[in-house]
Amino acid sequence: MAKSQIKLHYKNVMADVIGDEHGITTAQFDALAEHTLPLIAQINNERTAGKTPYRDLPYKTETAENVRELVAEIKEGCEVFVVLGIGGSALGNIALQTALNPSMYNLDGTQRRGPRLFVFDNVDPAQFASFLDWVEDKLDNTMFNVISKSGRTAETASQFMIVRQLLMDRLGPEGLRDHVVATTDADKGTLRTIAMDANLRCLEVPDGVGGRFSVLSAVGLLSAAMCGIDIDGLLAGARDMDARVSRESFRENPAALNAAIHYHFYTHGKRNSVIMPYSCALKDMADWYRQLWAESLGKRFDLKGSEVCVGPTPIKALGATDQHSQVQLYREGPNDKLFTFLQVDHHGQQLKIGPAPDCAAELGYLAGKDLGSLLNNEKRGTEYALLRDKRPCLTVLFDRVSAHTVGQFIYFFEVTTSLAGALFGINPYDQPAVELGKEATFALMGKEGNYKDDYTYAQFANDIRAETNVDENFLV
Ligand code: PA5
Repeated sequence: MAKSQIKLHYKNVMADVIGDEHGITTAQFDALAEHTLPLIAQINNERTAGKTPYRDLPYKTETAENVRELVAEIKEGCEVFVVLGIGGSALGNIALQTALNPSMYNLDGTQRRGPRLFVFDNVDPAQFASFLDWVEDKLDNTMFNVISKSGRTAETASQFMIVRQLLMDRLGPEGLRDHVVATTDADKGTLRTIAMDANLRCLEVPDGVGGRFSVLSAVGLLSAAMCGIDIDGLLAGARDMDARVSRESFRENPAALNAAIHYHFYTHGKRNSVIMPYSCALKDMADWYRQLWAESLGKRFDLKGSEVCVGPTPIKALGATDQHSQVQLYREGPNDKLFTFLQVDHHGQQLKIGPAPDCAAELGYLAGKDLGSLLNNEKRGTEYALLRDKRPCLTVLFDRVSAHTVGQFIYFFEVTTSLAGALFGINPYDQPAVELGKEATFALMGKEGNYKDDYTYAQFANDIRAETNVDENFLV
């Protein structure tokens, strides 16, 4: 049976629907096609030249094989699986789990196809201590997957150091070895050194693949496979999308259209990109997209070195929940947003709404209807209302949420991001602005040595404190 394909519906960004002032006119569309077409070839060439190795992840069957072998080795007796990571080393794991496992997975053993999964992507002591209290007497049946490409990220390193100490105290060095898998760079970095020293099981973050483009590598696949997600289906879905987003035809390439439409609206006063899944399964995909879009496209300098300070602001919303929180603003506030709905035809469950109580005949219109049809009609209703106010709307249509369609979605948005980077003329694969805050944290936490040239971390820390100390004169 042919697998279903996700589709991009873009009619409702066109001037024919929302008017010339806010929509894309035929002439603008043709100009976008002309501008984007050579960039499709450009990113295809970059891929062939080995510059964007994330593009080849869906074909790395040996990675899936390594993951499966590791799962076979560690799954038996594992009741709790814990991911320690942040940013690209966590958001994909969370998104896959939310999309492809039932929402009560952790609570209901009958809904589980693997261990409970926890992903810690923060260093909140109250949250982490509460978890450690809970897991302490389950350590024999717990596996920790510490994920860090660089191995020096303070959040992940400190979580790991707490867990390491706990495992060493309770289970000794063998316990540490048996209960931790490190996912990190193949040869270098602090986590690789630690893993070699402690003889930990390891998986690799492939060379040249940045965190936010790494979900289809061992970074995302291990926790998914542990929890019973069909990782072959994910990779097959991504390969399916690869064939579509590699097409050197603007109108037949969904990533080209998506990137070009986003670029058009950014350059025409709509600098915010709202992604609004009408599916709880896809809600954390919005978080994953937010990081991908923000870190990749928010750049001060273009490729020629000119200061441009570009980048659409990604905003996540959830339908129907945020109809009761955001839609007032979305309709009547500034017309500065492009909306992308995620719509799912079949939600995997049918749930019939019960009869209306006799005293509330006005609710009769809901009685006997499927809850999914309410959700999908809410999407239509919201889209219709936004269109009345000339707000451009895209929809990504899913027949259903499956490993195959989620793999397509991930690859679709990754390649959209590459193409948007090319349209903006920036490098979407680095994140220089994240570094200063990281280094500042190192300094404040007492790192020794020099930060730059002969400027020490200690001096750096003093300068940071001078600027960020609370000034009583400005305290009310
Ligand atoms: O996309 C990225 O590169 C970042 O979000 C990283 O994933 C994040 O900073 C974590 O880095 P690391 O995996 O090196 O700990």
